[in-house]
Amino acid sequence: MSFRTIEWRDNKVVMIDQTRLPGEEVYNEYEDFQGVAEAIRGMIIRGAPAIGVAAAMGVALGARDIIADTYESFSRQLANVCDVLARTRPTAVNLFWAIERMKRVAEANRDRDLQFIRETLKAEAIRIEQEDLEICRAIGRHGGQLIREGATVLTHCNAGGLATAGYGTALGVIRAAHEAGKNIQVFADETRPWLQGARLTAWELMKDGIPVTLISDNMAGYFMKKGAITACVVGADRIAANGDTANKIGTYSVAVLAKENKIPFYVAAPVSTLDLSIKSGDDIPIEERHASEVTHLQGLPVAPEGVKVRNPAFDVTPARYIAGIITEKGVVRGDYEKELKALVGQ
Ligand code: MRU
Repeated sequence: MSFRTIEWRDNKVVMIDQTRLPGEEVYNEYEDFQGVAEAIRGMIIRGAPAIGVAAAMGVALGARDIIADTYESFSRQLANVCDVLARTRPTAVNLFWAIERMKRVAEANRDRDLQFIRETLKAEAIRIEQEDLEICRAIGRHGGQLIREGATVLTHCNAGGLATAGYGTALGVIRAAHEAGKNIQVFADETRPWLQGARLTAWELMKDGIPVTLISDNMAGYFMKKGAITACVVGADRIAANGDTANKIGTYSVAVLAKENKIPFYVAAPVSTLDLSIKSGDDIPIEERHASEVTHLQGLPVAPEGVKVRNPAFDVTPARYIAGIITEKGVVRGDYEKELKALVGQ
């Protein structure tokens, strides 16, 4: 891949600015945790695993700048850093997973000197980023086998290199099938209102020379009914214990259409996207974003001023629509409740 989504460089966090793609490839530098929190909230960086990496790096930046004499004082201030980062976006569980992992590392080293803890947190954040790339490749290895020669794969939103440390989850599956020499093509839903499909998925697939066709969201049913789509693969923001999956708004419609047309609908996600503390999708918090994302396109109004708007950023696809959940540890099918527990050794 010819871009870096996020990296720790010269004691700063560098991110490709996803609000400016595909027009401009600009990299922003963040020197403090408040900047990283703003970047997550403002979707400079987005996608569940990438948000997790950003939050971990934000914690490391915050820890670096804490002035304290005792571990107690350090830990109190670190809790504040974590709270600020945790309040940025509510749905993707990877954010909370990464913050908890960083907190545990600090706690495990509470008897060491503070400089050691700061360095250890920095190393942990970089490790989370490197691991995510490996995890995506493993997801690709498992999922790529499910994609047949000659397949046309529909994906929704962007679950690609831009949504992870690189390679992607849903796009990791597609990349792996392509790298295995299979002649496949992708249909990318544009993904209103934020246009992750049009702006990001189309951009990164074209960069890698993977054949991609862009469609608007309301065309998916038309192409499925015509037999033009043979599989669907999407990412996930949070997967409940029963397999219900929160992902970008519009994913549920794709899944229902896929079932109606007898097309397998797969979810690709790392184990860090599982939230087995939540029984079903009904309990997943759904972020509601600003109305202007719906009323405006690139700053231009496309609706009458003052119109009432709803803008949930995610929806939940019930597990019964999902043909398989592709993780770095393998593909889970059937009785999700039982199989997901077994996957994480519970
Ligand atoms: O609002 P976004 O762009 O952060 O939403 C992203 C998605 O819904 C992705 O499909 C999901 O996070 C998986 S990314 C590998």
